[in-house]
Amino acid sequence: MAGQTYYRDMDSVEIDRRSIVLLAVESSCDETGAALVRVEWDASRVGGDPFPQVEILAESVASSMEEHARFGGVVPEIASRAHLEALRPVVRNVLDTAGITAPDAVAATVGPGLAGALLVGAAGAKAYAAAWGVPFFGVNHLGGHVAVGAMVEGDPDLSNAVALLVSGGHTQLLRVRGIGEPMEEMGATLDDAAGEAYDKVARLLGLGYPGGPVIDRLAKDGDPRAIAFPRGMTRPQDSRHDFSFSGLKTAVARYVENAEKNGDEVDLADLCASFQEAVCDVLTMKAIRAAKDVGADTLLLGGGVAANSRLRALAQERCDASGLTLLTPSPRLCTDNGTMIAMLAAHLIAAGAQPSGYECATDPGMPVEVPLVGV
Ligand code: KG4
Ligand code: ZN
Repeated sequence: MAGQTYYRDMDSVEIDRRSIVLLAVESSCDETGAALVRVEWDASRVGGDPFPQVEILAESVASSMEEHARFGGVVPEIASRAHLEALRPVVRNVLDTAGITAPDAVAATVGPGLAGALLVGAAGAKAYAAAWGVPFFGVNHLGGHVAVGAMVEGDPDLSNAVALLVSGGHTQLLRVRGIGEPMEEMGATLDDAAGEAYDKVARLLGLGYPGGPVIDRLAKDGDPRAIAFPRGMTRPQDSRHDFSFSGLKTAVARYVENAEKNGDEVDLADLCASFQEAVCDVLTMKAIRAAKDVGADTLLLGGGVAANSRLRALAQERCDASGLTLLTPSPRLCTDNGTMIAMLAAHLIAAGAQPSGYECATDPGMPVEVPLVGV
């Protein structure tokens, strides 16, 4: 991926071309990510250039996932400590790979996310910025998941889109009007996040952590219609754009309990396929409904669960049937990484955003309406 360029028309000789090297840091959950990118834009454009050229010079991600495995979910204290250990190596890695000693600007996730994890990454990133004497941009993690949607083939247009962000920590439907533009939350889970449901069901079945990839794999050999698991929040009186996965998790637990009580053998593949179908059916149905409700032309997937093979296939099928364009970043860019933060910050900088300043605070509950601290 390094060296790949995402760009629009930068060939005009009339433009006031600006070029900077940007370091971006992500640390909101259990991945410590860093990316170094070159950003070029036309500073003569009135209102800023919404389509900067972004060249990835280097990327590095360290994950503390294995340290959380025996607890069946992310332990915030362990994540914070792991960020402390991983931050300097991942930053050193991208600087060395690109042969850069000091970038021209630094960006970091300042929310939403785990309080301690955010603090470590943002404080570290601000310290680098202060030591180099360069501006600091504190950006929104969820905006990064959306910005990475521009890193697909063609010329993706996010000016009239809905994003479905699904991970271990978030399950949200967001109204999107361009990269770096304030977003609006249309709906969210009322209990477990979709990834959390995968992780809890995997734990129940003794499949380890994280649950998503293993259930995705086992489901491939199963029949998704074998067990009729409930589709949460789909009755007419339920909220149109919200989700609930705790009832599904309980239904899986009941099913296993009953089978054990009756001495029946559980077909793991059928169980995984049926559970996965229930999750993906509701996610895609509600995402497409949300896009239709607001007249959006594009649906974007992001977050760790967006790596799921069934979710991607079903979303494609249903978007095709509804005339919507589907944007699915490559699975490695769906999970948390530094590049998504670089993409968001690059667009904000090119659009003329002012730095957040070294005193910029982290905010575990940062609202989706705020792409950057200070705007
Ligand atoms: O975005 P992410 O790396 O971290 C946060 O939670 O923010 O997402 C991790 C989540 C875990 O819950 C994991 O089980 C889920 O994403 N996941 C998947 C798949 N790969 C990862 N869920 C379903 N299918 C997958 N293939
Ligand atoms: Zn995330």
